[in-house]
Amino acid sequence: MIKQAIIPLAGLGTRLLPLTSVFAKELLPINGKPGIEYILDECIDAGIKEIIFIISKKKEIVKKYFYNDKFYKKIIKNKKDSRILKEYKKILKYRKKIKFVYQNSPKGTGDAVLKTQNYIKDNFFLMLLPDDLIMKINCSKAMIKVHNKYKSSVMASMVVNKKTVNRWGIYSSKKKLDKNNFLISDVVEKPDVNKSPSNNAVIGRYILSKEIFKVLKNQKKGKGGEIHITDSIKKMILNGSKYVGHKFSGKYLDCGSMNGYINSSLEISKI
Ligand code: G1P
Repeated sequence: MIKQAIIPLAGLGTRLLPLTSVFAKELLPINGKPGIEYILDECIDAGIKEIIFIISKKKEIVKKYFYNDKFYKKIIKNKKDSRILKEYKKILKYRKKIKFVYQNSPKGTGDAVLKTQNYIKDNFFLMLLPDDLIMKINCSKAMIKVHNKYKSSVMASMVVNKKTVNRWGIYSSKKKLDKNNFLISDVVEKPDVNKSPSNNAVIGRYILSKEIFKVLKNQKKGKGGEIHITDSIKKMILNGSKYVGHKFSGKYLDCGSMNGYINSSLEISKI
């Protein structure tokens, strides 16, 4: 069973400036609800019991969102508003499941994952990148099923426009396992458009094994001077670890870019 999830939240959100200059991108509203709550709902619905937030001193506002009790209690006392009480209870429910760890310098997703090493109890855990919303069908739940079937690591996959491959991790695959799942033979972080092995991209849902921490400890900086989880996954695959790519069927919304963020509220309002 996969019981723990980790969510890297220490990123600066520069693609969403000026919205992120004083605010955390994960708290920005998407159709009237902070983006992070969609991610939390996906985790909880998939049976996750503990969620580890990787934040930084600059992102304390994320913690505050879940620990603003004094403010809520005062308002609830003065104003008998059932909607506010319901929202407060929801936040308390989320909070019970959340732990915070710190990544004070944003060195990349690989470095963020390494910060959770001492908290991971089981052999496998889930990671969700909060820029990637997947609506309609719970991608984490589907991936946990794939993990249970193949006893492997799993990553979400989606075919993207060939001209945009340098924005994603890109897969190579040799073998189809079943209709929506394939065996990954290699993965490369943000390849050049003319050197890309395919246009099948990594989307931000991963089931990873604890083994990855050993690799991450020695992981050197890659593209853009960051420590990428993709580079450690690549090493593991080349050393024989089994990674399955899962073509998810939900609706993908890229909330990490300005156009994508604006579009996401419109799309969710239609669901
Ligand atoms: C990260 C990963 C990349 C993946 C993408 C999915 O990139 O490094 O491999 O394809 O998420 O959203 P980032 O969005 O942090 O640049």
